[in-house]
Amino acid sequence: MSETITEKETVEEFLLQHKNKWTFFNVPFEDGQALENLVLENNSQTILEIGTSTGHSTIWLAKAVEKTGGKIITIEIDKNRHQQALKNFKEADVSHLIEAKLGDALQIIPTLNETFDFVFSDATLTVQPKESYLLFFKATEPKLKIGGLYTMHNVTDGYGDDGRFFKYLEKLGNYQTSIIRASHNGISVSKKLK
Ligand SMILES: C[S@@+](CC[C@H](N)C(=O)[O-])C[C@H]1O[C@@H](n2cnc3c(N)ncnc32)[C@H](O)[C@@H]1O
Repeated sequence: MSETITEKETVEEFLLQHKNKWTFFNVPFEDGQALENLVLENNSQTILEIGTSTGHSTIWLAKAVEKTGGKIITIEIDKNRHQQALKNFKEADVSHLIEAKLGDALQIIPTLNETFDFVFSDATLTVQPKESYLLFFKATEPKLKIGGLYTMHNVTDGYGDDGRFFKYLEKLGNYQTSIIRASHNGISVSKKLK
């Protein structure tokens, strides 16, 4: 059996074994699958995730970039969750695909040299919860490639953006948005057209 096949089986087994056991605001299994499919459909390779928590969505993204030949940068502000995520990445055998950063994404993102073709925004600021999604978008937008996807969690469950993110996108005029309803949480997918 080749090394790649062993790794693929390991990540699949890990995700199945941990299905419904995630307790730190992690995405549901169905949304993880939806993220994997999106990355594969768009052949995305440079991925930024805002809000690692303990790593459920990151592992789904890693499962996808293993096939596209890409890599992921993920950012988490909480030290314990970040450390648990590192353990989970190791257990799922995907650490080599992930650069996990500990700190405030709003401060870290402007310091990144990379540009991205896929962003998953899944964090809420404790101080400005309702502005979070727009603030993270504004920080990331200059680093999103044309043709790239900006995806956001919790768009149909009332926990996420209160509408100002979508109003802002409409004003910009260069994004095309659709919603994935794999779970009740909803994921928006906004493609940067120019
Ligand atoms: C909804 S959870 C992420 C779940 C994760 N995507 C998953 O599916 O496993 C949101 C995470 O964002 C983190 N967070 C909140 N504000 C942040 C910030 N400014 N920078 C980085 N992470 C932040 C929280 O600590 C929390 O763990």
